[in-house]
Amino acid sequence: MSKTAKLELESKSLTLPVVVGSEGEHGIDISTLRQQTGYITLDDGYGNTGSCSSKITFIDGDKGILQYRGYPIEELALKSTFVETAYLLIYGELPTVAQLNHFSNLLTENEMLHENMKRHFESFPPSAHPMAILSSMINATSCYHPRLMEGYKAENFTLQAARLISKVRTIAAYSYRQARGFPIIYPKTTYKYTANFLHMLFSQPYRDYELKPEVVRALDLIFLLHADHEQNCSTSTVRMIASSQANLFACAAGGVCALWGPLHGGANQAVIEMLEDIHKSGDDGSRFIAAAKDKTSGKRLMGFGHRVYKNYDPRAKIIKEQCDKLLSVLHINDPLLDIAKHLEEAALRDSYFVERKLYPNVDFYSGIIMRAIGIPPEMFTVIFAIGRMPGWIANYKEIAETQGSRIYRPRQIYTGPTIRHFVPLEQRTQKA
Ligand code: ACO
Repeated sequence: MSKTAKLELESKSLTLPVVVGSEGEHGIDISTLRQQTGYITLDDGYGNTGSCSSKITFIDGDKGILQYRGYPIEELALKSTFVETAYLLIYGELPTVAQLNHFSNLLTENEMLHENMKRHFESFPPSAHPMAILSSMINATSCYHPRLMEGYKAENFTLQAARLISKVRTIAAYSYRQARGFPIIYPKTTYKYTANFLHMLFSQPYRDYELKPEVVRALDLIFLLHADHEQNCSTSTVRMIASSQANLFACAAGGVCALWGPLHGGANQAVIEMLEDIHKSGDDGSRFIAAAKDKTSGKRLMGFGHRVYKNYDPRAKIIKEQCDKLLSVLHINDPLLDIAKHLEEAALRDSYFVERKLYPNVDFYSGIIMRAIGIPPEMFTVIFAIGRMPGWIANYKEIAETQGSRIYRPRQIYTGPTIRHFVPLEQRTQKA
């Protein structure tokens, strides 16, 4: 017999269905609550709210489990590539050789931007944050593909998805070069996804960037590890926009803005800035840990803590190993890595962090890898956004393909003034 939950409310007794997910997660279905009782639920920050059911990604935060379409992140990190994982997330199954080749070729065919778009880049000041450029340019790119405005169409969805995944990398590379006054480097059709991105970032017209397999692999892994993370702030934003039937590129542009904040994707940039500050001040991290525990300091240990993971973030473990490996291959001795390790050890011994179940998250070590590759901090969140694109696309598709899906429209508990009447301007007195 299926489970139910009983709710006693005033004189009413209500039986609510319990929904059970494929990994055994339980949720009380309150979709008829307001209609039956006039009440809504209140869950500030959505910590207890399932906003949807989804077949894409599973997380068990207490056990440190992350699975894309059922596959453990550890296996994908070891055996897959970003492009293959993107396909898996979007279509639900690992591709065959033919499917992967087709998808990969589509990415190659769509890597260029319309030549006129160069002018858009030129109009941004050199100081523009690349996340602002990314979001604007994703929207601008949609103007060159008018069929997007028709909304979701199964027959051209793969092309639109490939366009987005492919072009976002070109946009990111252009914004990096534009800010430095470097000439634009066009993509090379012979390079695969991540190698091509590195080429567009770092080659010069007179000299190709030397692609090291370890560097390509490390960046590809960063993309893969960021590819989806169920209903986080930016993905929920994408789903929210998608629920209004806005086009795919508009949804992705909104996702970029949500990701930008330092409590979300912006944390990777904030981590490196924090480590640099600690290094410059001559602190080994101890003073910073003390400040992060002091609520009046306004400081947090960036790259630590997660709304869902309360044991460890499995991505952080993979990234830390990759970080050690890459720095050793490149013979880089980065003092920031030593500070990061010291901070981690000290925090994991400190009752403040232990009691609050605060562990390193994916952002804690990813910045050190990107720094070793030569990617500047202001591009870190852009790298995250490139990686997250398949997850956003998969979530967009899930909404678009759900029969009878409704526009997202949460309720609120209003706490403002009760009804009052308009006072003409000349009769108003100043209130505090
Ligand atoms: N440093 C110091 N204290 C922290 C930290 C931190 N990094 N994170 C949480 N805390 C404390 C809070 O002050 C709070 O303490 P209290 O109970 O005494 O008031 C307690 O731990 C719980 O914190 P919340 O903010 O309620 O946790 P929430 O789930 O809302 O936030 C978040 C999660 C935003 C990730 C938070 O841990 C944080 O700000 N971390 C630093 C930023 C960061 O690394 N963000 C990246 C997240 S992963 C990602 O988006 C890819």
